[in-house]
Amino acid sequence: MHLNQKGTDKKQHALFATKIGAIAATVGSAVGLGNIWRFPYEAGAHGGGAFMLLYVFFIIVLGVPVLCAEFTLGKSTRQGIFGAFRTFKPKSKWPMVGYLGVIATVLVMAFYSVVSGWTLEYLMQSVAGTTGGMNETELSSLFNEFTSGWRPVMWTMMFLLINYFVIRRGVQKGIEKISSIMTPLLFVLILAFCINSLQLPKAGEGLEFLFHPDFSKLTPAVIIGALGQAFFSLSLGFGGMLTYASYFSDNTDIVKNSNITAISDVIIAVMSGLLIFPAVFSFGFSPSGGPRLVFEVLPAIFTQMAGGRVWASLFFFMLFLASLTSTISLCEIIVAFLTEKTVMKRGKASAISISVIAGLSVLCAFSFSVFKKYSVPGIGQLDFFNWFDYISSNILLPLVGVLICVFVGWVIDKKILKNMLAVSESGKEHSKFRQVVNQGIRFCIRFVAPVLIALIFIINLVGI
Ligand code: TRP
Repeated sequence: MHLNQKGTDKKQHALFATKIGAIAATVGSAVGLGNIWRFPYEAGAHGGGAFMLLYVFFIIVLGVPVLCAEFTLGKSTRQGIFGAFRTFKPKSKWPMVGYLGVIATVLVMAFYSVVSGWTLEYLMQSVAGTTGGMNETELSSLFNEFTSGWRPVMWTMMFLLINYFVIRRGVQKGIEKISSIMTPLLFVLILAFCINSLQLPKAGEGLEFLFHPDFSKLTPAVIIGALGQAFFSLSLGFGGMLTYASYFSDNTDIVKNSNITAISDVIIAVMSGLLIFPAVFSFGFSPSGGPRLVFEVLPAIFTQMAGGRVWASLFFFMLFLASLTSTISLCEIIVAFLTEKTVMKRGKASAISISVIAGLSVLCAFSFSVFKKYSVPGIGQLDFFNWFDYISSNILLPLVGVLICVFVGWVIDKKILKNMLAVSESGKEHSKFRQVVNQGIRFCIRFVAPVLIALIFIINLVGI
């Protein structure tokens, strides 16, 4: 990320921050395991086409507007989530919304770092060449064996330790630089693998599954699942996007930024679907495999490619790096909260954050073995891993999103949102079309988002 540093060449920095830095930061936050790992398995578990259509619909009518609302708060106050609310309503309960964002972040970190740990295991397996030549049954039992042992915990701890050293020393910049080169490369790799997948014998079935919506499969679970995926994938409801916006320069066009972020997010998610589902059907996997889906299917794809071992190693390395940049920014949200709210120094705050996450992540790592039968009462049959995911992605993030929309759309002066959306990089007035878009976004922030999300919560409560 390129902040508005006050350097000697101020002008150049500001320009860079506007055009590339701001977009790179928000797109970088949105694109991650959420697209490559979570989207395919959620779509697979929820019937494919109908889920995908809903996810895209939610990105448009909720994702972009909530993103604009977070950007408006961050950019107009130049503060993080607590400070932003405090600036407008100092003596109210509004800043408490920040706590929900922090809780969501801790819960997400707990299962996200377990999955990041899996990427390390599969990286090692790929480098060693053990997965090469394995068939579908062998790959499934490999995953079972791996997750029933202690290795997932070891990798998770290793991964969290890397996070600890990075955030403690504040050397994020270096990692971000590497990842800004790696992310476009990851994109190219996925594209190449997609083309390969589309030539598989049963590619047609995969496409049919992903693009042919079967509306009889549209249950409350599918609706809330797609809602959660849209929020998780766009990094909404954490307060992270809000904080990024506090570094935007004054003439950053937040609508343009939101659109680019949303479009990139959808493209990468759809591409992951195009990579995974043709293979799911061609190799005889079940699309509803859940969190393990991508980790079984990807090695199967690499196995039948020339030079598969190299491709697999490269891919899992990039996946690991992509998840590392995400978890570093997520940890940063928690560390910033602790150092702001207490007298703690950065080192101690980092140690405490990582320890709490480590404790919770053990519950998630063992959710596929010893803790499998410990379902959490109240929300169906969910283990810790899926429960943390459900509470954060499907409940907390949309809830924070609604609160931010209500605050920006109704509580503060309405002109603030209007003016923020109207900013153009050139300083000239926007086209007619864009003015209509802005009106649509304001309408969604004020009416559609609060009503629709409340409705989905109600349907879901009644539906369970
Ligand atoms: N959107 C990211 C993904 O799809 C995950 C994420 C959520 C994230 N919140 C974040 C990443 C905050 C960085 C910062 O994987």
